[in-house]
Amino acid sequence: MLEVKNLRVHFKNAAPDRFAVDGTSFTVGDGEIVGLVGESGSGKSVTAMAISGLLPRRQSEYSGEIWLDGVEILNGDRNLMRQMQGDTIGVIFQEPMSAFDPIMTIGRQVEESLLVHHPEMSPAARRSAALTAMAEAELDEPEIVYEKYPHELSGGMLQRAMIAAAIIHSPKLLLADEPTTALDVTIQGQILDLLKKINKTKGTSILFISHNMRVIRHLSERVLVMYRGKIVEQGSVEDVFLHPQEAYTKKLIDSIPARDRHLTGLKEKLKGNETT
Ligand SMILES: Nc1ncnc2c1ncn2[C@@H]1O[C@H](COP(=O)(O)OP(=O)(O)OP(=O)(O)O)[C@@H](O)[C@H]1O
Ligand SMILES: [Mg+2]
Repeated sequence: MLEVKNLRVHFKNAAPDRFAVDGTSFTVGDGEIVGLVGESGSGKSVTAMAISGLLPRRQSEYSGEIWLDGVEILNGDRNLMRQMQGDTIGVIFQEPMSAFDPIMTIGRQVEESLLVHHPEMSPAARRSAALTAMAEAELDEPEIVYEKYPHELSGGMLQRAMIAAAIIHSPKLLLADEPTTALDVTIQGQILDLLKKINKTKGTSILFISHNMRVIRHLSERVLVMYRGKIVEQGSVEDVFLHPQEAYTKKLIDSIPARDRHLTGLKEKLKGNETT
């Protein structure tokens, strides 16, 4: 589905030897959920920007390859890339409030991408697709929410609306950059469950980015650990959590609050692991 090969990104305003992404390679398979975890500034969002075509090209230099569904999109024809990225990828960000235009109704914004990717659709067909996507994102009473403005929705509802906008054209890959970080823990859990459900029912691959190991563990099957622009460790969630090889990964796991580890039974497993 997605293959990133030796991706390097350098921002022109950074020190010459400081690469935001420094030779990163990884894959996301069909229907797979992969977690990308690392501390602030490790290069997670820049990786996501390169994949979704949002890298500021004038301010950056980059090399490597990004293959999306068999097409190389980092160095290829710009228009083809745009088309490919729009058709194949749905993007969900951390701050739903800033992602929405405050003076446009939610429904119009959920269906916005259809204007570009399916210009042949009638307004009625677009509305109907938006209502379906909103129901799939488990927004109650989609007809009512459709007419509302962003400030009339809670953070959790807005995040569901952003998910509806991301899945409306049935992308094969969802790119979720810290989509639950701004939400309280209960809503966070609901959104993670929703993403899992979309993955199961629609077979959508997900690249899920978070600095939070607990969240990654809840959702992902495979995890990539990023540190200073490099993937320093990767493997199944079980392997990486129970047998972390890198000191950096151990530190990230230790930063999970003990009560959360206890809840998931991980603390006991980790303890058992230490004594063997
Ligand atoms: N537009 C930009 N111009 C210059 N430098 C940038 C730009 N965007 C990101 N960077 C730099 O690239 C590096 C990686 O940033 P990135 O946003 O990918 O981190 P992150 O892992 O997503 O962190 P966080 O968890 O805080 O979101 C940082 O050193 C950052 O300052
Ligand atoms: Mg980021």
